[in-house]
Amino acid sequence: MIEPKTRAPSGIGLGSILVTGAGGEMGHALLAQLASLWHGKREIVAMDLKELSPDRKAHVQATYTGDISDPRLVEAIAANHDISEIWHLAALLSTRGERSPELAMQVNVMGSANMLRLAAESATRRKCPVKFLFPSTIAAYGVATLEAKRAAGTIHEGQCLEPITMYGVNKRAVEELGRYYARHYRLLNTDRMECTVDFRAIRFPGIISADTVPTGGTSDYGPEMLHCAAQGKAYACFVRPDARIPFMTMPDAVRSIMELASAPRESLSQLVYNVSAFAPSAEEIAAKVREFFPKVEITYVPTPERQQIVDSWPEDCDDSAARKDWGWKPEHDFAKAFSEYLVPKIKVRYGI
Ligand code: SER
Repeated sequence: MIEPKTRAPSGIGLGSILVTGAGGEMGHALLAQLASLWHGKREIVAMDLKELSPDRKAHVQATYTGDISDPRLVEAIAANHDISEIWHLAALLSTRGERSPELAMQVNVMGSANMLRLAAESATRRKCPVKFLFPSTIAAYGVATLEAKRAAGTIHEGQCLEPITMYGVNKRAVEELGRYYARHYRLLNTDRMECTVDFRAIRFPGIISADTVPTGGTSDYGPEMLHCAAQGKAYACFVRPDARIPFMTMPDAVRSIMELASAPRESLSQLVYNVSAFAPSAEEIAAKVREFFPKVEITYVPTPERQQIVDSWPEDCDDSAARKDWGWKPEHDFAKAFSEYLVPKIKVRYGI
């Protein structure tokens, strides 16, 4: 369903920013940042499958409720707004995607293809590249066995690219579509633009927020453990204590994608970047949670299928390219993530 829109005066050349998945976990944190950065200067258009909450609506000038894989909805946005930047956050995460693989492909690939097409057509009309920010994932990586994961250790962007989940395959597919639109779109046209879509992607680790709990992901055991502990609930962890993947706090994740967005194009040597912050095992997360919530009861009841997914993801990612090209550096290491961000904020959230 398309909601009534209030079209902000964009005519100053900056154009409008479209945020998909604006009602999701990252959208929650990002909308506020984008709104404070562009307040009064740029129209922000939000899109989500569900109606946005009033606090999120307050940050944007127009909202669309609907499915990104519906081309009519995308056409309506294109007709009503001068889109110059797209933050394409909408996706089904890995566990949800594995339960409904075809739906995941429809949303994650076809929805993204619609967004890339919107970006390319808008760029052609504006005669200027449209920036396209895309949160990819560690799920884009895949190793066949736990032994292979351990042998690979910390991996760079070109390694282990055989994802085992539909979600990971979908994100890899969109990275490749992004590369096509950025570098080769309409390559037979003699009057083609050099860069149509200015595609920039980050392969995010598991993200932990003090404000929200993710749904449908496989890295969810990290945030779930903490949020359960803060609410005085016991937690049965669905992976083994030794399961290890990288994590990052939500503020660092949002800052990283905002920094990538504002980096000069000529400083970027690649289209897709790893970012890394800390890489604890499930047991190390549990021990850290216990430091702050000593009464919490954490047990391990591994689900073989979800364990298999975590075992296929890298132990950690090499983010030296992001550090070199656009100065990436996490604010929160493992200790600070808990002591300076997660625990103080979560205590306020749950009134402890
Ligand atoms: N958090 C995602 C998931 O668990 C991985 O990027 O699916």
